[in-house]
Amino acid sequence: MKRFEDRQWCDSMRLRVDYNNMMREFAGQHGISEDAFSARKAQYDAAACRMEEKRSTMKWRALPFQQKEVVQEIQETAAWVRANCDAFVVLGIGGSALGPIAVQQALSHLRYNELPTEKRGGPKLYVEDNVDPERMASLRDVIDPARTIFNVITKSGSTSETMSQLLWATALLKESVGEAWRDHIIATTDAEKGNLIKIAKENALRTFYVPDGVGGRFSELCPVGLLAAAVCGIDIEELLAGAAYMDGLCSEHDVLKNPAYMLAALEVLAMEQGCNISVLMPYADSLRFMSDWYAQLWAESLGKRYALDGSEIHAGQTPVKALGVTDQHSQVQLYTEGPFDKVITFLGVDRYRTEVVIPHAYDHISDVAFLSGHTFNALIQAEQLATEYAVLKSGHLSKTITLPEVNAFTLGELICLFELQTAFAGELLGIDAFNQPGVEEGKKATYALLGKPGYEQKKAELAARPARNARYQI
Ligand code: PA5
Repeated sequence: MKRFEDRQWCDSMRLRVDYNNMMREFAGQHGISEDAFSARKAQYDAAACRMEEKRSTMKWRALPFQQKEVVQEIQETAAWVRANCDAFVVLGIGGSALGPIAVQQALSHLRYNELPTEKRGGPKLYVEDNVDPERMASLRDVIDPARTIFNVITKSGSTSETMSQLLWATALLKESVGEAWRDHIIATTDAEKGNLIKIAKENALRTFYVPDGVGGRFSELCPVGLLAAAVCGIDIEELLAGAAYMDGLCSEHDVLKNPAYMLAALEVLAMEQGCNISVLMPYADSLRFMSDWYAQLWAESLGKRYALDGSEIHAGQTPVKALGVTDQHSQVQLYTEGPFDKVITFLGVDRYRTEVVIPHAYDHISDVAFLSGHTFNALIQAEQLATEYAVLKSGHLSKTITLPEVNAFTLGELICLFELQTAFAGELLGIDAFNQPGVEEGKKATYALLGKPGYEQKKAELAARPARNARYQI
């Protein structure tokens, strides 16, 4: 029996949400009053009903439950890659990259790529989510194409960045391994739409599908994220089990009992009183890239010009990534003494995966000696508590999500929690949280600038933009 099949173990891994420090009773005048919840009860009920009605259309919600066969296929492919390759390169951007990066950072050894091969147990992982020429050239310097698999991930199958990387990888492979180049590319894309599926079919590439209705930033728990995770030796069944468990907790109708709904309700209430910034501050290096993943999820889903009723609202809250304790020495001054425009979400961990004692060395200097004998574990937790206290004392708003441990199960919980929080916040704001028209505009402009057929009108539109005024250039 796997540990996630034991309900008691699952319950012991349940994430905890503490929002005391959001409340007026604790945070003072900028805090949220309990009355605010009762005043909005009807709004929350209606949003919860819509979440229930739309459940079957939110296809990403089914991912933890409906991928048995896909998971098996992923595991088989991953086992082959682990045994035969030195490098696994993800070529993708946005939702096709941030999840794989976050999950690998959370669940693999923190210096995974630097480990000797026998300790790593699988290939090095590179996630290339930029088209900086220096970055592409430097990748060429550290991989042997003959021992590398390129996993090209693009839901739309048309994103310029990813398709240009595919062209680059194809040329590199043809030069290095000739006709065998096809064996070194795995395509992850929509089953029907886009150019990647065409290329994959024409060349009989191994292919995984992004299920219909699963958008980029909600796709970590499908082959987009699962393949890279499995290649790194991560237990993807446990990851999905954690998400399923959280989905259960977040199926409660009552906002007061539903962690995702409550987190969303708090952020939206805070937004209404001018908190335009949402800081995510994990106190664990393993969770640092969860902030990047969350930033995209929150920004791209909620940053919308129009409400569903067509009115212009310019909704959204700017996500900020921070890391405890590092950013205590960079941003916390602003969090405590700056404007009342942000909500800070701390991510804490009860039990780190290792314990390191701070040794004795300079016992005659009492200002240094007080640290000796403690663990780094106690130190980082004390610093988190102290920062939570400092933020509270300054009257700024914060809440804390605690993971009993960082493991595949709790990470699955966290991913599902944030996805549901985002979807519910979208309902409360009355927007479509699942489209990204602002990103599409930039994509189209890039196509036009690079001469993609069909974008002639966009090119003309760009050419007609006002010329730059030299007065404003130095
Ligand atoms: O969340 C989204 O939909 C976007 O951020 C996409 O993931 C990103 O634009 C990449 O798109 P694609 O996977 O189609 O290449």
